[in-house]
Amino acid sequence: MSRSTEITFIRPDDWHLHVREGEALKSVVPDTAKRFARAIIMPNLAEPITTVKRAASYRDEILAAVPKGLKFEPLMVLYLTPQTTAKEIRKAAKSGFVKAVKWYPAGATTNSDKGVKDIADCYPILKVMEEVGLKFLVHGEVTDESTDIFDREAIFIERHMKKLALDFPDLKIVFEHITTEEAVHFVKSASSNVAATITPQHLLYNRNAILAGGLKPHYYCLPVLKREKHRLALVKAAVSGDPKFFLGTDSAPHAKGAKESSCGCAGIYSSHIAVELYAEVFEAEGCLKNLEKFASINGANFYGLPINKEMITLKSVSTAVPKEIKFGDHILVPLRAGGKVAWTLA
Ligand code: NCD
Ligand code: ZN
Repeated sequence: MSRSTEITFIRPDDWHLHVREGEALKSVVPDTAKRFARAIIMPNLAEPITTVKRAASYRDEILAAVPKGLKFEPLMVLYLTPQTTAKEIRKAAKSGFVKAVKWYPAGATTNSDKGVKDIADCYPILKVMEEVGLKFLVHGEVTDESTDIFDREAIFIERHMKKLALDFPDLKIVFEHITTEEAVHFVKSASSNVAATITPQHLLYNRNAILAGGLKPHYYCLPVLKREKHRLALVKAAVSGDPKFFLGTDSAPHAKGAKESSCGCAGIYSSHIAVELYAEVFEAEGCLKNLEKFASINGANFYGLPINKEMITLKSVSTAVPKEIKFGDHILVPLRAGGKVAWTLA
C-alpha cells in the first residue's frame, strides 16, 4: 500500500511536558510551540512550582519564549507537597490557568524529593480538588528500593491507583506516561474519570533500546522502558482512538553531560519531532485516521477544554534529526539523534 503524501488534522496538544527554566527553557519552548497549541507544563523545577503565584510567573517566562507569530498556551500544574493547602487549591482553580496538581511520589523521579510519600496525608486536599474540578496527575511508580524497577508501575496500581479511583470517584485522574499492559487494563476498566498519557518512546521502543548492544543513556527515562509485550499493549491502546488515552510526550530535556555520566539522569527529549514520531506509530498500525483523536481531541475532552480550531499538516517525507541541539549554555542529545523521522511538519 502506498503512503498518503500528507495528513492534515486538528492542531494537537501535549498533555505532559517539561520545559525547565532560564536559558534552557528558551532553547526548547519553540520546538513545542511549532507543533502544539497547548501543553500541560510539569512543575518539577529544582525549586518546584507549589503556588499559584509562582505558576503565574513561570507561565509568563514560557510565553516570553514563544517565537513571534506562533500561538501557544501553557497550562500550569502545581506540585503537590505535604504543605499544600486547601486555600492554594481553591486559588488555583479560580486562576483559570492552573489546570491540575501533580503527585510525584517522593524519590520516584527527577526533582521528586519534595513530593508526597503517603498520599493518605493529602486526602483533605484531594477532596477539595475533586470539588473544584482540578485534575490530579499521577506519576505512578512505587519507590521502595526492594521493588524491581521494571515492576514499580504495576505494583503502584495495586497499592495506590485502585484505591484512589475508588476513594475519589469524582476526581479526574490522569495516570501519566503509562508503560505497562497492567496500566492499560486498569485505565480501561476504571471509570470515565480515569485516563492516561502515553509518550512516543514507550510506543516506539522497548527496554532493549537502553540495554542491548551497549548502555544507551539517551533512552533512559522514568518510568523506564519495558518489555515488548508492554509496548504492544500501549500501541494498541493509543491507536484504538479510545477517549481514555491521549498524547503526552514527557519530553524531558537534560544536558548531554548530565545523562552521559556515572549516574545519568532520567528523561528523553522529543519535542523536536514529537508529532512526527506519533505519526510513525499510527502509520505502522494502519491507523493514521485515529491520530487526531489521540493527539488533538481526547485530551481536550478529558480536561474539559475546547478543541483547537487550527490545523497542522505532516508530509510523508523523511527528515534528518540533528545529532545535538542547543540547550541554554549546554547541548542536549535528542531522541533519534543523527537518525531520521518518517514525517515532516509542513
Ligand atoms: C522527568 C524529568 O526529567 O523531569 N524525567 C523522566 O524520565 N520522565 C521526570 C518525570 O516525568 O518522571
Ligand atoms: Zn514527566
